[in-house]
Amino acid sequence: MIDSIKDKLYSSGIDATTIKDMIEKADGARKFAYTPYSGFKVGAGLLAYDSDNKPAIITGCNIENAAYSPGNCAERTAVFKAVSEGYRDFRAIAIIAGKGKIADSYTSPCGVCRQVLREFVDPNNFYVIMAKNTEDYKVMTLEELFPMSFGPDNLK
Ligand code: THU
Repeated sequence: MIDSIKDKLYSSGIDATTIKDMIEKADGARKFAYTPYSGFKVGAGLLAYDSDNKPAIITGCNIENAAYSPGNCAERTAVFKAVSEGYRDFRAIAIIAGKGKIADSYTSPCGVCRQVLREFVDPNNFYVIMAKNTEDYKVMTLEELFPMSFGPDNLK
């Protein structure tokens, strides 16, 4: 992890224990990925806060489909689950993925998922944690991954 980002992430109140928890929960969700076509299993753990500022980690996995295009990514599954449960305040997402039993690559969210995340967050204060495991991960802000994005403010 780049140190400046690490400092920013920690000073935003997301500590090492929370990050570990997010990655572990993402990895737990990854086991439920339904991927008969790609075999690429993805898990996501979205850090969300309720109206009392109580944190929760909402998980998601990718869910493929015989008609291909209706398939959904793990990140969007997590966001849609969270929003449908009343959460809209999101601070970070952990992503863990790979074809084997053990995740083996740093996986960044696809363009569609970046846009879906962007709807609910301040891109400069939302962290994407791309993990191989709880010890080995990269962190970038959504702004770094998705600069000059189109969002709700553009329609005001
Ligand atoms: N996928 C995700 O779930 N998240 C990503 O960040 C990248 C791609 C899924 C979609 C599809 O089920 C499989 O991975 C291969 O693209």
